[in-house]
Amino acid sequence: MRNSWTIVVFLLCSQVVQSQRVRVLPEVEAYANESVNLHCEFTNAGATKLTQVSWIFEATEGQRENIAVYHPTYGQSFPQSAFKDRVQFTQPSLENPSIKINNVRMSDAGKYTCEYATYPSGNEQGTTTLIMLAKPKNSASPVAAQASGGKVVVARCEAAQGKPAATITWMTNAAGDFNITSYPQPDGTVTVRSEYHMAPMPADNGRDITCVITQQTQNHPQTFTIKLTVQYPPTVRIEGYDDNWYMGRTDAMLICHADANPEVVNVTWATVSGKMPPTVKVVQNKLLVQKVDESVNTTFICEAKNSLGSSKNQLTAMVTVEKRTEPVGSVTGAVIGGIIAVVILCLIGAAVAMYRKRLQSVENGDGPPKYKPPPPMKAGCSTEMLHKPKDQTTMVTETAPLSCYEPNYYDTTAAEPITDLDDENPSSPANGGTPSTWQGPGHPPGTDESISDTLPPYEPTSHDGLEANHGPPAAGVSRGESFVSAPMLV
Ligand SMILES: *[C@@H]1O[C@H](CO)[C@@H](O)[C@H](O)[C@H]1NC(C)=O
Repeated sequence: MRNSWTIVVFLLCSQVVQSQRVRVLPEVEAYANESVNLHCEFTNAGATKLTQVSWIFEATEGQRENIAVYHPTYGQSFPQSAFKDRVQFTQPSLENPSIKINNVRMSDAGKYTCEYATYPSGNEQGTTTLIMLAKPKNSASPVAAQASGGKVVVARCEAAQGKPAATITWMTNAAGDFNITSYPQPDGTVTVRSEYHMAPMPADNGRDITCVITQQTQNHPQTFTIKLTVQYPPTVRIEGYDDNWYMGRTDAMLICHADANPEVVNVTWATVSGKMPPTVKVVQNKLLVQKVDESVNTTFICEAKNSLGSSKNQLTAMVTVEKRTEPVGSVTGAVIGGIIAVVILCLIGAAVAMYRKRLQSVENGDGPPKYKPPPPMKAGCSTEMLHKPKDQTTMVTETAPLSCYEPNYYDTTAAEPITDLDDENPSSPANGGTPSTWQGPGHPPGTDESISDTLPPYEPTSHDGLEANHGPPAAGVSRGESFVSAPMLV
């Protein structure tokens, strides 16, 4: 036992002595195509005779290959190897047999041993590890995604052919996650890719998301700010109606606004009856009423299309014989509304004051319990309050510019001029030739009505658009499938 320890210690010591005599750097780093110097020196030779020195390359453990030999009598020799013609002794001598390797390759990474043949102690050596580095080629890009409700790839980030491998992270407050995949390259570098996944909403279009690439050869992490591209079918609203279309008026106009990505390719105006009144002129998304008459006392429909689908909205114009003397919506409405508000506030104030007074008198006096039912006075007040706000709502909705159909408003204002065609009986539409189902903006995604609205005539355009803007995940999706899935969007 004791003996074996002595042997181990002796071996360790002799190792130290040897490595001290052949001096090399433990590690050298290099980039491809550079040249690299590998130093070697025999120190404190003393009585030791140096007969020959060799450089041995070891790409992987155990595969030794002589790449350069120096003998004081026979001179330099460079055996056939991947280094031939790229390796040379910087100043050929036994004392300093350093070599220079030109045009280093990623595959030159490995161990280089400077090995002396000596007498009488035998071989002595020192080993340098050459670490090949590669700056990654970094890039990032958005991936056009459809607002479909499902998680999809919305952005990509790549650090190509780096060594060592880069790390990728994402900075965003978007609710998503990312994966990272490493692809080892034949030359020893690694390409790292990351994809950010989320369920994009139309509102995420244009939103920033940041990818951060960190790698040893970079002084700083590199960041890429990516603008998300989210595609969605149009949502349509009609503006410009002031609820004052009187007979003979000449400057009435409706404007059809559509929010969509990609851009709306087509905006069309129609009426429920199917016929366009003769006094109406359509200029792009505007419907100009050159002269208000009975023919425009109708419901106008605007439809907008993009490659992902189409959507309609409608507005019912009410033609009056007489001009409204005052624009009810702006001045009178505000005044009446204000008066009502003041009255309500007074009533609430009075009720609260009275209630407090009563509570106080209850607390001061000692008789009745605290949870006494409210006095009849207060009950009367709350009934009053129930009525008043209702009056006010009616007033406001009547006088506000009736520009846009909002599904929320529909239920509360049955007397509104605006009607929802969706609620009409689809089997008996009032409008002969037009389709019996309409897609309103308030429709839940994926309803049958939505599907019926994705029109085949736009197939070529939309197909191109899908192909061009879609990342690899959708590349295999057939034309038919695209169209079934497109209306599933919001
Ligand atoms: C417009 O139509 C409504 C009914 O929809 C009707 O009450 C009104 O009198 C019409 N106005 C004109 C000027 O014909």
